[in-house]
Amino acid sequence: MTNRHNLLSNLASEADRDISIASLFDAEPNRLSRFVMREGPLRADFSKQALDDKALDALLDLAAKCDLEEWRAKLFSGERVNTSEDRAVLHMALRGVGGTTVNQAEVSEMRQRMAAYANAIRAEGKFKNIVHIGIGGSDLGPRLVADAFEASAGQSLTLRFAENVDGASVNDAIKGLDPAETLAVVVSKSFGTQETKMNGESVRDWLGAHGGTNMIAVTANRDRAVDFGIAAENIFDFWDWVGGRYSVWSAVGLSLQIAYGPDVFGEFLDGAKAMDMHFRDQPLQENLPVMMALVGIWNRNGLGYGSQAVIPYARRLRKFSAFLQQLEMESNGKSATRDGVATTLTCPVIWGDEGTNGQHAFFQWLHQGPSEGRYGGAPVDFVAVLKDHENRPDHHAALLANCFAQSEALMLGKDEAVVREENAGRADLDALAPQKTFPGNRPSTTITLDALSPNALGHLIALYEHKTFVQGVIWNVNSFDQWGVELGKVLATTILEEMTSGNSGDHDPSTTALMGLVT
Ligand code: F6P
Repeated sequence: MTNRHNLLSNLASEADRDISIASLFDAEPNRLSRFVMREGPLRADFSKQALDDKALDALLDLAAKCDLEEWRAKLFSGERVNTSEDRAVLHMALRGVGGTTVNQAEVSEMRQRMAAYANAIRAEGKFKNIVHIGIGGSDLGPRLVADAFEASAGQSLTLRFAENVDGASVNDAIKGLDPAETLAVVVSKSFGTQETKMNGESVRDWLGAHGGTNMIAVTANRDRAVDFGIAAENIFDFWDWVGGRYSVWSAVGLSLQIAYGPDVFGEFLDGAKAMDMHFRDQPLQENLPVMMALVGIWNRNGLGYGSQAVIPYARRLRKFSAFLQQLEMESNGKSATRDGVATTLTCPVIWGDEGTNGQHAFFQWLHQGPSEGRYGGAPVDFVAVLKDHENRPDHHAALLANCFAQSEALMLGKDEAVVREENAGRADLDALAPQKTFPGNRPSTTITLDALSPNALGHLIALYEHKTFVQGVIWNVNSFDQWGVELGKVLATTILEEMTSGNSGDHDPSTTALMGLVT
């Protein structure tokens, strides 16, 4: 077995003892100062994790043994850390941090071109709507950010998204719009993605006579975009050193720039830049993304949790858990190390929905449900915004109260003795009491943003990006490829061809029967 395997097994041994989160506040008087960290408008409170000083020291030791500092330096210097695709990984260069002078020059030229284009479209007034066409990393980031920008900056143009190959997606996106007033932005790093090409073709048909002028593309594969029929001057490039799920900071964010303006987009980049510099420069023990990653490693490899919930108590961050599903699970959902050795216990399932809605759905399971994790339920990241952007202070106070109450309830639980006292006299007390008992000691982190500003949003997304990188280093997986999505794409192409031609190929009986249902 590998050295890495041994290191992670040691962590599991370290975690094989009972830790009472609530007791740690007495046992460790400096707990808040060690477990609460801030960078600009973002504060993260890890003190309600089932993690004590001793465990944190073990985690920092693990990070050092996994050469985290060396990997961090390689990342920022533009070394080809995406080894299986032989590429550098430099989304931070899009925010002005790291990379070579060549990268920086490319970025600066592209930023100027994007800003000039966005300003011209906004000034001209011909377009009233943007339809952004793309999927995965070419959709989730822009969609999350568009929602969040609404808190502090209004759209000048209507922005709609078409991502799914389901015709409902494109139909909803163009519904009620006038083709003459609509700019279609086709976004695809590869320009080979089935969904995006199909939606692009359907929107081009819908644009009719305006198809030539009202459609632009964003891609790292200019030739394919030209083949698709986009005029060369209407193509905005990005580079193979920008991973799809890390690409919202590139020309992939062009629709956002047009809808909200380059200044707003610039504040977003600046927020991420501040987090980049923090991650690059702070020692590991004072480093926010490192701390967040190590807490996740503890929960996964130490306490054995198989999933991680992320609950934004902010309607305008409701896409955050979907965004993180791609960011974390496409990056680290792997069972082979960089060296090709089988590995287990890498990325947990990431899931969640907005609070307070989730309280009326899956919180029952979070509070009382089982799990393979040591203390039950699943670790939760709560995300809350301190400023009220809706001019509804009473709603906002209630929202925050719910958020804070949930993390407290998960930690404290409710003892069976208290339940028995409250229900004394009931004939069915023995059956009832365990059902109304909350075990508690369920770990959570609470992240607060001073406001849902573009700057704070940049901090938040960059935090999770760097967390993902750190975890990939510790699990020794390549966080920047995604071979696992290929097989289904190939089979879908074959099945579509066979369904279209009526010539069914060699499939298992279940798949053959399913194909036979389509007439
Ligand atoms: O789902 C696989 C994937 O390759 C993602 O990594 C990517 O973000 C998405 O498809 C879209 O790819 P593209 O931008 O090339 O259309």
